[in-house]
Amino acid sequence: MHGPDMWRKVILRTDRCTKQLHHDVNFANTRLERHFTNLHSGCILGRKEIASMTQTETLIKILLIHGPNLQLLGKRQPDIYGHQTLEDINSHLREIALKKGVELKPFQSNYEGAIVSEIGDNINWADGILINPGAYTHTSIAIQDALSAVNLPVIEIHLSNIYARDDFRHHSYVSPVATGVISGFGAFSYDLALEAMVRRLRENSGE
Ligand code: DQA
Repeated sequence: MHGPDMWRKVILRTDRCTKQLHHDVNFANTRLERHFTNLHSGCILGRKEIASMTQTETLIKILLIHGPNLQLLGKRQPDIYGHQTLEDINSHLREIALKKGVELKPFQSNYEGAIVSEIGDNINWADGILINPGAYTHTSIAIQDALSAVNLPVIEIHLSNIYARDDFRHHSYVSPVATGVISGFGAFSYDLALEAMVRRLRENSGE
């Protein structure tokens, strides 16, 4: 093919490539704008650069720990703990975490030692810890020690308002080493805790 027809095809193809490139840049911009200041408008990036930046967008890593009996959520005393299952809570939280550029690692155990190990094992992975320690809230010096040892921001979460319940629930071994405590908002306590943790971590990193 020669002449004007060939040039029309070349122009069309170039136009399509330019549109795709703009689309990719916009996509990268919207997803990364909070994290990258070097993405000026008008700056043309190659696909490889965009791909590598997209890979690094998950900057914050949060460990989410659920203590004993929380695997029974949905069935366990729904008048106190609500109807949502643990899987409902984890998948909802993962979804909102992703939108915030956060990688969330949920973990549940009924064993104090397993929780202690999970905290220690993530000393180099996690930027922060969200924890609903269940009944271990009121008994576990070992969990308090593990949280102190890793020295990360911690938010203690409870579905129920522990201060409006039995006297033995009024004392927490975790609160003294927590950045903050959110208690009494049902499954929404987790949303609030995630929001608070992300803000705290972004403040700490000067974003
Ligand atoms: C709980 C409160 C604790 O007192 C209780 O032992 C739990 C759940 C809550 O989420 O409200 O297991 O942590």
